[in-house]
Amino acid sequence: MVHFTLPQHSKITGEGKKHQAPEGAAHKRVFKTYRWNPDDADNPRIDEFEIDLDKCGPMVLDALIYIKDNIDSTLTFRRSCREGICGSCAMNIDGTNTLACTKAIEDCSGDIKITPLPHMPVVKDLVPDLNHVYAQYTSIEPWMKTESPAPERERLQSAEDANLLNGEDGHGPAGCILCFCCSTSCPSYWWNGDRFLGPAILLQAYRWIADTRDEATGERLDVLEDPFKLYRCHTIMNCTNTCPKGLNPAKAIAEIKKLMVARR
Ligand code: SF4
Ligand code: SF4
Ligand code: FES
Repeated sequence: MVHFTLPQHSKITGEGKKHQAPEGAAHKRVFKTYRWNPDDADNPRIDEFEIDLDKCGPMVLDALIYIKDNIDSTLTFRRSCREGICGSCAMNIDGTNTLACTKAIEDCSGDIKITPLPHMPVVKDLVPDLNHVYAQYTSIEPWMKTESPAPERERLQSAEDANLLNGEDGHGPAGCILCFCCSTSCPSYWWNGDRFLGPAILLQAYRWIADTRDEATGERLDVLEDPFKLYRCHTIMNCTNTCPKGLNPAKAIAEIKKLMVARR
């Protein structure tokens, strides 16, 4: 269902809190951070945390951890690996969806605005609700399907076939960390996310379609043959432009569309 105005409860209203860096701090930076707590009746607000950069690491995630440890322990965000591998620290920083752990503070200009991934329900502060997108992930059955008898050892691939997954430049679909920066930057997914699978899930679908060891390509294409699931992609390319891992979900979607045409 498309909403063209924000629900009342989602509008950012009122003054956020302001925290200043200690006197004498030489390198200060303000982090304007989205706050929303489901346990009170307040609308979201933006808190401003001015911090001493000499006291924290170089990445935006380091600043968030510093704030949580030293200023406001209620600030809520996801993180795990701190190395751009797990995808859990995805958020909108300075107007772009990206990973907080690989986004350098020095690459941001002025005050740094941090909000949750756009167009997702918010669980709390910077944590988006990923239930729907993971249900969509489940719908493409992201595991290898085979009918031929299992070989004695593993199912081997040629280097050429493996390149379809890994990419000759290392940026193939197997590199996706399911951070959802792409899907939440896609206008088609904003408006039709209930039925359009979005770039992250379609890239994952392609990852299994392109896997020469998988024997369910026809079945996988059947599942995607739908006016909404696949064909709501209008090649706007936000997905590819925003992917923090340098992957190309728009190309993966185009490859699926080519396979659909080829089998007609
Ligand atoms: S190319 Fe397709 S999936 Fe990517 S942002 Fe555009 S419409 Fe969305
Ligand atoms: S394609 Fe890129 S942006 Fe999209 S979920 Fe995968 S890693 Fe994240
Ligand atoms: S903490 Fe894992 S990708 Fe950022």
